[in-house]
Amino acid sequence: MTTRNRDIAAAWGYHTATNHTERSVYNSSHHMDFDNQPRPFKIYRDLEAVTLPSGLEPSGTLALDCLGSAPTHEHRAPTLLELAGLMHHAAGITKVREFPGGKMYFRAAACTGALYHIELYLVCGDMPGLPAGAYHFGPQDFALRRLREGDYRGLLVEATGGEPSVAQAPAVFILTSVFWRNAWKYQARAYRHSYWDSGTVLANLLSTGRGYKLPIKVVASFVDEPVNRLLDLDDRKEVALQLVPVGETPEHTIAPAPPVSSLGLEVEPYSRRQVDYPAMAEAHAATSLDSPQEVSELWGKPPSLAVYESQGRLFPLSYPPAEELPQDAIEDVILRRGSSRRFRRSPITFQQLSIMLDRAARPVPADFLGDADATLNQLYLIVNDVAGLPSGSFVYRRDLGTLEQLEEGDFRDQAGRLDLGQELSADASVNVYSLTDLNAVLERYGNRGYRMAQMEASITAGRLYLAAYAQRLGATGLTFFDDEVTEFFSPHAAGKSVMFLLAVGRPGRRG
Ligand SMILES: Cc1cc2nc3c(=O)[nH]c(=O)nc-3n(C[C@H](O)[C@H](O)[C@H](O)COP(=O)(O)O)c2cc1C
Repeated sequence: MTTRNRDIAAAWGYHTATNHTERSVYNSSHHMDFDNQPRPFKIYRDLEAVTLPSGLEPSGTLALDCLGSAPTHEHRAPTLLELAGLMHHAAGITKVREFPGGKMYFRAAACTGALYHIELYLVCGDMPGLPAGAYHFGPQDFALRRLREGDYRGLLVEATGGEPSVAQAPAVFILTSVFWRNAWKYQARAYRHSYWDSGTVLANLLSTGRGYKLPIKVVASFVDEPVNRLLDLDDRKEVALQLVPVGETPEHTIAPAPPVSSLGLEVEPYSRRQVDYPAMAEAHAATSLDSPQEVSELWGKPPSLAVYESQGRLFPLSYPPAEELPQDAIEDVILRRGSSRRFRRSPITFQQLSIMLDRAARPVPADFLGDADATLNQLYLIVNDVAGLPSGSFVYRRDLGTLEQLEEGDFRDQAGRLDLGQELSADASVNVYSLTDLNAVLERYGNRGYRMAQMEASITAGRLYLAAYAQRLGATGLTFFDDEVTEFFSPHAAGKSVMFLLAVGRPGRRG
């Protein structure tokens, strides 16, 4: 029997319907109703706050050593202070700005429209300072709220088909998206943003975890329904996106979970009224898995992606001596990060770009990639102004650690057009696009591959952000005209789909 995950017309259908075209962007009658703007926090009416410890201890690990997936970790459980540090540096409030209309609470990870629709939950066994339970993280008061008392990790072990990192984890984070909070501005395209914006959170979570030398991994394959039920979610409105097991206790076996009844927890309404975009819940249902067997079929063995044999000039990445690498710790870089609102037209160096590409494109520790040195995406670049490189278009050959030139020329105007005419891509020193061979990905993983390709691209982009800020450069995520980007990089990119765009440069003053 064909499962719903294997009917890949559904993922294609959602993707094509939400591509940005000139028509969809300029003929749209959608406007933002600011009187109805959703609150960016999930507030439970009746749950008591369990305040998290303050006085977070910096890991002291260099930011550039935390990007990537080298398995230098200790086989141990995280402390409560480390879990608090992980939550703060992934989804905590890191900046407050006063505006005429009120206060804006900026978070550790970049998010489309600063709408912060990604929520973080923690499921753990008994640990010093925190009894076993399923908790919600509230950044607004840096506190946990316990949804369920008891050890529910067994449910996650079962839902992931016994994925080894989950089966040994003292604690598991679950990321969710509250659809309406992003769809208010972006309508149905917001389903992509669930993965874009959880990807930047994951990049921070993974690199902070590496800073603490904890085992940490992204688990994208799980039976959806029980996980959503555990968190008391209405899956037409909020859904679990990824599981992130943290730490390792090899001697410990996780007991089966107690039964999971509906809790009916009351949450403050996000806004006066909500508009439903059924395409989002439909895309999520089509990418959902129904059995542990379906889950384990998706582990490892990534697809071989379309290879275009080109013979452009090669520019091997070039690095400064180790003693000249930036020395900032990962936490400092995360706290310093903030999307550039303007770039000055001035160059970055090829060495700076090399460090960014090298760190960001390392394999993501994820169940769907297994131990393979693989990726679902390939990076394409428009170089506007990088000292040591001719301006033009390039593709990053990760296998060779080299940039391959596609075409030489000044493409600032085209770059500015591709990001919907925003000036940021035209002014940036370099624009980095993630493109995937979506057909190969969907053939291998079913519709679920759509989630995987989007999240892998955005984890890479989240790392690019951090690698840029570690070097005191600026960066910003950007949206784009999908097919025009593919066309721009064709024939090399023909048939591929764009998953992410990140612009990097030297920040300028806002006009
Ligand atoms: C996937 C993604 C797409 C984005 N697209 C745009 C964009 O098209 N234009 C823009 O000005 N900013 C864009 N941003 C930047 C966000 O507006 C910014 O992250 C948000 O305002 C939060 O601010 P911060 O990144 O400084 O913390 C994007 C960010 C992300 C993560």
